[in-house]
Amino acid sequence: MRQRSLVVVANRLPIDDSVAPDGACEWRRSPGGLVSALHPLLRQTPATWVGWAGGTGPAPVLPDVDGVHMETVPLTADDLRDHYEGFANATLWPLYHDAVEQPEYHRRWWEAYQRVNQRFAEATAAVADPGAVVWVQDYHLQLVPGLLRELRPDLRIGFFLHVPFPPPELFMQLPRRSELLRGMLGADLIGFQRAQAAHNFAQLATKVLGLPATDRRIGVQDRVVRIGAYPVSIDTAEMAALAGRPDVTARARRLRHDLGDPERVILSLDRMDYTKGIEQRLKAYSELLASGDVKVRDTVLVQVAMPSRERVGQYQILRERIEREVGRINGEFGRVGEPAIHYLSQPFDRAELAALYRVADVMAVTPLRDGMNLVAKEYVAARVDDTGALLLSEFAGAAAELEQAYLVNPHDLEGLKQGLLSALRAAPADAGDRMRAMRDHLHRHDIHAWARSYLSALDDTGSLLTRLSSTG
Ligand code: G6P
Repeated sequence: MRQRSLVVVANRLPIDDSVAPDGACEWRRSPGGLVSALHPLLRQTPATWVGWAGGTGPAPVLPDVDGVHMETVPLTADDLRDHYEGFANATLWPLYHDAVEQPEYHRRWWEAYQRVNQRFAEATAAVADPGAVVWVQDYHLQLVPGLLRELRPDLRIGFFLHVPFPPPELFMQLPRRSELLRGMLGADLIGFQRAQAAHNFAQLATKVLGLPATDRRIGVQDRVVRIGAYPVSIDTAEMAALAGRPDVTARARRLRHDLGDPERVILSLDRMDYTKGIEQRLKAYSELLASGDVKVRDTVLVQVAMPSRERVGQYQILRERIEREVGRINGEFGRVGEPAIHYLSQPFDRAELAALYRVADVMAVTPLRDGMNLVAKEYVAARVDDTGALLLSEFAGAAAELEQAYLVNPHDLEGLKQGLLSALRAAPADAGDRMRAMRDHLHRHDIHAWARSYLSALDDTGSLLTRLSSTG
């Protein structure tokens, strides 16, 4: 069978740029996420990753990473402002997350979105071998499948949306809604996190474009575009191995001691984003402290909010509000040496994250809307001794799979408080049963299974997949 090559196209390259103490830039493979999922395949197939390296100006030339060619797409300062911060993160991001913040519509942003999508499509067309499989990722690049098909009709094109796809009532707000749908329909297979999203998309294809559609197939002229749900996951075995490492176990013990050896540690770990429900959670916690249901000496909350999209106005306002609220709660309920909330706004390495998961008796993941939420899955994978309790929002994609979590509606303050108390007071046997069931699920539905199921549906010649299954 002829070997197909693979091109992954994503807004970001799978590497982090971190500045070394001497000011030099270091490049390294990011742990977790897509790159781990595709790693076995990327190693064995001629593969290229097309993406942005962060920053503005001319695209740096990067070395191959594990044999994968890195094709850098440059962004100018205007592209960064109008494409990434503008159309992607101030129009589509809020619109796709139930408009929990007001989406902004600016014609200049749409022009930048088209321009940058065109640049990604051209870069991909230039590097893809004849008949290659191309897998385009996420909301930043929804026009790429259509643009790429025009340039290279020989390619097999997949698109996967990591975030929710909204119901027609919301999507219809978008001034350029038909162009966006047509862009996605350039793909052979469109993957979503949940079946509901595929349903929403099919409805819109009919309503906006007049196309015949079911929740599985859409007719576009002489082609059939397949759609479906492929819930993304994590490298479960890798997280379990990390969490079980002796140094991580020792670090978890140390962290608990540094937190004052409380009876209960609650952990929340989010990107600083208004979709994550951080404010609602803080309010619920503050009310539990005020009523005496939770006492500072017995229980601590560790809230990690990793800085994100810091130049976007809505994110700046959110950060100020959260930090003011944490200050208020600590001022009111903390004691000297015993804050009510340990607040950290910084990135952590994987081993430190695993240690935090190990120390958390309760993990509170309560987004207002979330495509999946991999933090919830990582917590479960890290609980190698089947202890701990997951408090999970019904509005996270992960809730469809992690049914044994303590599920809550984060808009319902009383429900949120009750859910948190139930998780804090869970009987060990019940908590153990729940955790075991969720861990079993994640061992069967890990990121390798996700990549395999999506790519086998996309590449029906099966030539990529023979390689993937032979490498696990
Ligand atoms: C979400 C999106 C990803 C994005 C990530 C981090 O998970 O689905 O595509 O990469 O947030 O956001 P950032 O803006 O830093 O890439």
